[in-house]
Amino acid sequence: MKDIILHNEKFEVFINENEIQKIVESIANNINTKKIKDPLFIAVLNGSFLFAADIMRKITIPNVEISFIKLSSYEGTKTTGNVNELIGINKDISKRNIIILEDIIDTGITLEKTITLLKKENVADIKIATLLFKPDAYTKNINIDFIGKSIPNNFVVGYGLDYDENGRNLPHIYKLKN
Ligand code: IMP
Ligand code: MG
Repeated sequence: MKDIILHNEKFEVFINENEIQKIVESIANNINTKKIKDPLFIAVLNGSFLFAADIMRKITIPNVEISFIKLSSYEGTKTTGNVNELIGINKDISKRNIIILEDIIDTGITLEKTITLLKKENVADIKIATLLFKPDAYTKNINIDFIGKSIPNNFVVGYGLDYDENGRNLPHIYKLKN
């Protein structure tokens, strides 16, 4: 598969679309076996929109719901350290069993912020599912319940993930070529 260029940087295919679907399926199967009661998935926008759409179709737990929040901590290819809440939860989620859906967990700053916001709403339980995880970049002690694939500390784009808002439409996941 061909390399691509986004904002003058070269990217090569890292995880192709078939492989992505296998990863999504394995996370869904794993969640399904846990039989979580009336789960409420909360997908963290923008990056997780495709992951959320694909995994929801593979969840077989009854009364499953989904909602979205929007946070941002990235500028270009580096984390800025500050996370801004852009869209919050606007319904009663108290006593709910939450499953956070993340496209990627890098430093964990976004995840920690998300959990802090959700705990304020007195939810019953919080579980975390992420498509990708960068263990070498992770700085938090929060346990991640469902990890699709652990990857090295490379910058990746595609399948919802962006490089300065470009590349979210790509069906495969690409990594920065150096
Ligand atoms: P964290 O707060 O450092 O864990 O970063 C999490 C967020 O940063 C993710 O939800 C993504 O939106 C973005 N992010 C982290 N790593 C990458 C990457 O390699 N490519 C694109 N976006 C990333
Ligand atoms: Mg981003």
